[in-house]
Amino acid sequence: MVLLFVDSTSDRALAAQLYEQLRDAIIEGRLGPGERLSPTRTVAADLGVSRSTVTDAYGRLSAEGFIVGRAGAGSVVAAARHQATCRRHRQATVLAPTSQAARLRPFDPDPTVEGRFDLRPGRVDPSLFPTKTWRRCMTRALDHPPSQYGDPAGTYQLRTALTQWIARSRGMTTAPDDIVVTSGAAHAVDLAIRVITRPGDTVCVEEPGYPPVVELFRSWGLNVVGAAVDEEGISVEQIPRRAKLVYVTPSHQYPLGVVMSRHRRHQLLRWACINDAAIIEDDYDSEFRHTNRPLEPLQLLDRDGRVLYVGTFSKTLTPSLRVGFLAAPAPLIPAIHAVRQAIDWCPPVATQHALTEFITAGHLDRHLRRSRITYRERHRLIRQALTHHLPANYRPLPIHAGLHLAILGPQDPGRHQPPDDLWADGLLVASLAPTYHTTNPPNGFLLGFGALPTHLAHTAIRTLARKLRESRP
Ligand SMILES: Cc1ncc(COP(=O)(O)O)c(C=O)c1O
Repeated sequence: MVLLFVDSTSDRALAAQLYEQLRDAIIEGRLGPGERLSPTRTVAADLGVSRSTVTDAYGRLSAEGFIVGRAGAGSVVAAARHQATCRRHRQATVLAPTSQAARLRPFDPDPTVEGRFDLRPGRVDPSLFPTKTWRRCMTRALDHPPSQYGDPAGTYQLRTALTQWIARSRGMTTAPDDIVVTSGAAHAVDLAIRVITRPGDTVCVEEPGYPPVVELFRSWGLNVVGAAVDEEGISVEQIPRRAKLVYVTPSHQYPLGVVMSRHRRHQLLRWACINDAAIIEDDYDSEFRHTNRPLEPLQLLDRDGRVLYVGTFSKTLTPSLRVGFLAAPAPLIPAIHAVRQAIDWCPPVATQHALTEFITAGHLDRHLRRSRITYRERHRLIRQALTHHLPANYRPLPIHAGLHLAILGPQDPGRHQPPDDLWADGLLVASLAPTYHTTNPPNGFLLGFGALPTHLAHTAIRTLARKLRESRP
C-alpha cells in the first residue's frame, strides 16, 4: 500500500484526493496487480477522515476497473491490462539531453555481461584480491565512525601514504598537500578539466586513445584533437600549438601498449613549455611491467610544474573500489579543493582509512608482488598461445606492461569490428574501433588477460583463434 495524504484546506473533496492518489499509484505501477489495499477502516483511522470518505474513493476505483473486491481479501488491484492502456507519457522538453550530451557514448555499455572467456581490457583477477586483509583493514576503519564530512583532498594520512608509495614505486617526490584522493583516474581528469580549461579550449589526446576520457573532454565542450601514436608514443609534432592540455598514457599507451620513449618524454615536456600547455600523465598500468626497466614518469622529468599526474587503484586492487589520486602542481590545489567540495565534498572516509593501513602495513607491496608473478606468467602463456594458434593475418602488438594487448587483424576495407560471433560464442574481446576518435580505425581488437584465469589462457586463445579462422570472409 502507498502512503496517502489528505489536505483538508483544499477545494478538492477528500474522497477525490484519495481516489486520485490511488489511481496514479496503480497507473504508475507503484501498486501492482493483485496487491491488497488497506481496509477502509484502517485508512480512515490513519488519515483522520470518515470511513465513508474512503469507501467512496474505493467505490470509484472499483467502478473504473482499477480495483476488484475479493471475498475475505478486501480490495485488490485489478489485472495489469487496464493500467497499461492508461499509462501516461508526459515528456518534459527540458528533460531532453543537450545535443552535446546526446552525442556522448558509453565506453562499456553493459559491464555486467558475462562470457565464457572474459577478455575485455580493464578487468582484474578477482581471485587475487586480498579479501581477508582488506576486510580487517575495513573493520578497523569502522571502529571510529566519523561524524562529519572529511577533507576534500582526502585524509592527510592517506595522502602521506600515497606520497611514500609513489616515491617507492615511481621515484616521485611530492608533498601530501599536492595530492588529492579521487574516485578513480577519470575523476582526477575531471577535476583537472574543471580548473584549467574553458569550453571551446583545444585538448590533444593520443590517437588511438582511451575513450572514457575523450568523452569526458567532450562532455565539457572541449575541442578534442588527436595526435598519432608511433612506436615511441604520441607524435609531438602533430599536437596543435593551440592545445591547452595534452592527455597521455606513457607507461602503457592505451590501447596500443607502446611505452613512451625517454626522448619523446623530453620532447613533449619541451613542447608544453614552449606552448604554455599542461600535460595529464595517466599512469594507470605502470605497476605491472613484464619486461624492461621502468622509465621516469613525466612528472619526475618535469622541471616546469606542468604535469598533472594521475594514479589509480583500479588495476592494483580492483576497479570497483573507485580510488585514485591526482598529484597536481601547487598553484592548482586550492581551486581543486574548492571544486571537489562543491561536487561530492570528500572521498569516502572509511575506505581511505582502510587503504592507508593497507599501504602503510606493507599489504599493498605484498599484494603487488604476488599479482605481478601471476600476471607475468599469464602474459607469457598468452603470448605463447597466440604465436602457436593465431591465424597468420592477425598480429599481436608487443607490450612491456599492463594487462591487455592489441591485436591487428586483416585490413579489409569497411571491416572494423572483431566478428560479432566472438561475443555470441562467449569470447568477450573489445573492438579497437571506439579508441579511434579522429581517424579511421584499423580492423583489430583488444585482448585483456586481467580477468582470465591462468589455467584457461591456452584454451581461450585456441578457441579465439579457431573462431577467427572460421569467421574469415
Ligand atoms: C587509460 C586508462 N586510464 C585509467 C584507467 C582506470 O580508470 P579508473 O581509475 O577511473 O577506473 C584505465 C582502465 O582500464 C585505463 O585504461
